[in-house]
Amino acid sequence: MTRAAFDFSGSVILVTGGANGIGAALSVELRRRQATVVVADVDEEGARALAAEGGGPGCCEAVRMDVSRRDEVQRTVADVVERHGRLDGLVCAAVVQPLARIDEISPEEWQRVIDVNLNGVVWCCQAVLPTMKRQAGGSIVLFASGTADTGKPLAGGYTASKGAVRSFAKTLAREVADARVRVNVFRPGAIDTPQFRTANPGGTTIPLDRPQDAVGPLMFLLSEAATMTGSLVAREMPFPGAG
Ligand SMILES: NC(=O)c1ccc[n+]([C@@H]2O[C@H](COP(=O)([O-])OP(=O)(O)OC[C@H]3O[C@@H](n4cnc5c(N)ncnc54)[C@H](O)[C@@H]3O)[C@@H](O)[C@H]2O)c1
Repeated sequence: MTRAAFDFSGSVILVTGGANGIGAALSVELRRRQATVVVADVDEEGARALAAEGGGPGCCEAVRMDVSRRDEVQRTVADVVERHGRLDGLVCAAVVQPLARIDEISPEEWQRVIDVNLNGVVWCCQAVLPTMKRQAGGSIVLFASGTADTGKPLAGGYTASKGAVRSFAKTLAREVADARVRVNVFRPGAIDTPQFRTANPGGTTIPLDRPQDAVGPLMFLLSEAATMTGSLVAREMPFPGAG
């Protein structure tokens, strides 16, 4: 390591879905640790509000970007690279989770969840890789979910997309390892976010953690301390009834 872990000064990091939940908590902490953070979200108002909060010493910018639109992703990333001259990290937190049984979900709803949760990840990785390869360095962090392994009724599109992202990351990690680009996957456990609440309308017996509680492992994966690729870092869910 050439500098202290978690010192992100000079680093430019793109966080998709960064207007809310885990992505927002990460963006605030990265800015605190001197990064230039670009929050890219369809929730433009939320992204702008976060960017306007201030609280350096880094900086935070908001852009409207729909990860499912490959052209929009390419344009946004090109603009970020043109303005900042580099791109060190990509965190793909954007997500949707429609609630529908597999035998009832409409083709449009199914397509949308795959377009955002899986294809959106592919488009973002494709957009950042030329820059990261040129720099001979970069860290990509994708999100999985424990429900990809256990299954979750009414979340077939979500669980399928999360399983696919884990698999995609393993192959991408091998393809870009020689360019010193790392690709890892984070499984956050049960975090109290807008998405979690929408996806669990009846509540849950699992005690929920706060979005800030998911930030440490993400910063580790973005940092030079994470000398690993193709790996999964998982926060296990706390035992029901604990804490
Ligand atoms: N919260 C949990 O307990 C939990 C558990 C397992 C995995 N995860 C994963 O963590 C990541 C973050 O989830 P979260 O709970 O913080 O969600 P969240 O709902 O709080 O945030 C998701 C963000 O994605 C944005 N978004 C939705 N569609 C988009 C699109 N097409 N383009 C760009 N942005 C879009 C939303 O506007 C929102 O800001 C997700 O990948 C999720 O699957 C979360």
